[in-house]
Amino acid sequence: MTTSREGASRPLRPGRPTRDRSAEQRGELAVAYPDDIDPDDEREPVWSPSIRALPIPGIRKMVNMAAEMDDVIHLSIGQPDFPMPEHVVEAHIQALRDGKTGYTMDAGLPQMLEAVAEYYSHRYDRPLEPENVLITTGATEAMYLAIAATAAPGRQFLIPDPTFPLYAPLIRMNGAEVKPIPTRAEHGHQIDPQEVIDNIGMRTFGIILNSPSNPTGTVYPRETIEAIVQEAAYRGVYVFSDEVYDHLLLDEMEYPSVLRCTSDLDHVMAVSSLSKTFSMAGLRIGWLISSQGAIKKLQRFHIFTTTVANTPAQWAGVAALKGGMACVDEMLEAYRQRRDRIVELVSKTPHLTSYRPQGAFYIFPSLPPNTDATNLATRMLKETGVCVVPGDAFGDSCPNSLRISYAASMDDIERAFERIIPWMEKQGF
Ligand SMILES: Cc1ncc(COP(=O)(O)O)c(C=O)c1O
Repeated sequence: MTTSREGASRPLRPGRPTRDRSAEQRGELAVAYPDDIDPDDEREPVWSPSIRALPIPGIRKMVNMAAEMDDVIHLSIGQPDFPMPEHVVEAHIQALRDGKTGYTMDAGLPQMLEAVAEYYSHRYDRPLEPENVLITTGATEAMYLAIAATAAPGRQFLIPDPTFPLYAPLIRMNGAEVKPIPTRAEHGHQIDPQEVIDNIGMRTFGIILNSPSNPTGTVYPRETIEAIVQEAAYRGVYVFSDEVYDHLLLDEMEYPSVLRCTSDLDHVMAVSSLSKTFSMAGLRIGWLISSQGAIKKLQRFHIFTTTVANTPAQWAGVAALKGGMACVDEMLEAYRQRRDRIVELVSKTPHLTSYRPQGAFYIFPSLPPNTDATNLATRMLKETGVCVVPGDAFGDSCPNSLRISYAASMDDIERAFERIIPWMEKQGF
């Protein structure tokens, strides 16, 4: 048998992770893409075809470029800029000191399973048992398990576009098909539930929702979620709901989780984590909530992927969920002030049109139609030193948009717009 090494048209160099310290510091980009894998190069016979479904993230391209420059202001970051709450830090350290460093049960530390079940039962007024919960390595693993365990050739998933660039690659990697449902800037990127329902066809297996949304900050109202979840259940379609920003609601409202809007858990999988709510993305604790049957299946998959989530970090998670929400409210107040200010600043910026996002820490303004936002964001970075992310990093429907993150200090936001506004005045479209 010819080994792939002998068959390779050029020598195989095992992937060496790139060393990008700025990326490491910015959570969202921390997974360095091996610098000698070109996933589009069909002459590389070693790698599974599925790796070709994994694009180099558009966010990463911008941040890599910024890493070569001095004096960059990042409005590109997808993780909170606040310290992890002190009582959670203490619990984490205490767990290490107490030697709580072994494996936990497969589904998670029993105390953490109970904490999640109790917390969300109360929050959503829906009885949940610890058996409805699986503790994972961040929401990313939860989403990975949910999609990889269900996506297969012949199955189609509906996904809002623009959206967080995790779902489509995972779906395609497992041979299933993605059908984007575009959302529109003029409607504040609200998804039209009827459009989703009209797009459910014979092959539709799943619908992915993400509210509050990355990259738009849009929060879907309860009627939208209810309409989608109820029709999906009736048609035997699963709803996968990425709810990592479930606490980052900037206006007074009750969060419409799918868990509130469904009569049973048979057709929903809800994913969330501690990353955004408690500013602890690096501790990598998330979870998936679903029917007990689904959790049992996914638990088996989890054993073969990460075994169990990080044990001391799960103890920190117990302290976070049981320690009261005063620390989260403080962060929320800061996000609210930043949101209000950034809406003002964007409205003063020539050529940008926007809306008022209600959640997460992103705004997704549009440039004039047919503008190439990638080109504009690249020039903006080079000429002003402000780093934002172009819309095409989040799908095909908004190539003229920019994602601006306000997970940045007010001072950075002000300084960034002092550079952006006069620069935009000079742009002709
Ligand atoms: C919508 C969305 N889902 C999931 C994640 C990943 O979350 P975690 O850190 O819990 O894996 C992110 C991170 O940026 C996100 O924006």
